[in-house]
Amino acid sequence: MTMRILYIWKEIIMSNLSVNHLLGIKYLSLKDIEQIFETTDHFKEVINRKIKKVPSLRDLTIANLFFENSTRTKISFELAQKRLSADVVNLSSSASSVSKGETLIDTVNNILSMKVDMIVLRHPSPGASVFLSKNVNSCIINAGDGTHEHPTQALLDAYSLNQKIGSLKNKNILIVGDILHSRVAMSNIYAYQMLGANVKVCGPKSLIPKYIESFDVSIETNLTKALKWCDGVNMLRIQNERMSESYFPTVREYVQQFGLNKKILDSIEKEIIIMHPGPINRGVEITSEVADSEQAIILDQVENGVAIRMAIMYLLASKI
Ligand code: CP
Repeated sequence: MTMRILYIWKEIIMSNLSVNHLLGIKYLSLKDIEQIFETTDHFKEVINRKIKKVPSLRDLTIANLFFENSTRTKISFELAQKRLSADVVNLSSSASSVSKGETLIDTVNNILSMKVDMIVLRHPSPGASVFLSKNVNSCIINAGDGTHEHPTQALLDAYSLNQKIGSLKNKNILIVGDILHSRVAMSNIYAYQMLGANVKVCGPKSLIPKYIESFDVSIETNLTKALKWCDGVNMLRIQNERMSESYFPTVREYVQQFGLNKKILDSIEKEIIIMHPGPINRGVEITSEVADSEQAIILDQVENGVAIRMAIMYLLASKI
């Protein structure tokens, strides 16, 4: 195990993670999440300093391979890597030789032969990161794989919520929207439950997978009732890019039943925390008035994402 000194502290933080990759929340233990959150606290302090950089990963080269569009995750990983002083290379699907017929394994092995130490992968195929971890010799971080998982998003969501309402044990967390096509929903469910929260989903029946109840997740199709139950809500986007058919009659009807607006929030007569992983479709799953309100922590989530990703890469780097 490599000993990495975090120059921000007197002590050396040793990684006790039970995993060598971050492939999904379902592969983590509660202890792993707790260590990631503790390390994130330290990095959050770093990124709020005037000099936002530490030399912790100056001996590492990390490749960000994004085979699907991204704004937040891609920029967040790259900023996290730069703030840890790692060398960074980026590849997007349109610019890669995968578009000429090269396999993912060949592409990654070619990149690794240039002495790259860690791969961050976003890919449209569920399981792409697990597949890669079994077929190449490198540390793999899943930055979102199809409808499977988006572990760094779930960690930053849970961390942000924890900062606002304290321990998630016995708290009620609601996830609203397109659960069927959402990797964020699956990773959120695993993370919140591991941290002791109760999870409910709300959306059109056609966008709630039948297997969800086997995860001990309850279902509610009335948004007002669901909001009255919860301490925090994560509003999800309709993921049209993963839909091959129509799942509800019109967007207007979807908005009427499942869109979050100020009138519904006022009617529940309690303060709840509002989250959204982004990108937001303003006026569809959430109105601008709610997205920009005091109750919404959407930009806190984005800020915390950098510190969460610094913590994950720091802890995994100790295991290389
Ligand atoms: N939340 C999220 O994954 O956003 P991006 O697709 O912009 O990375």
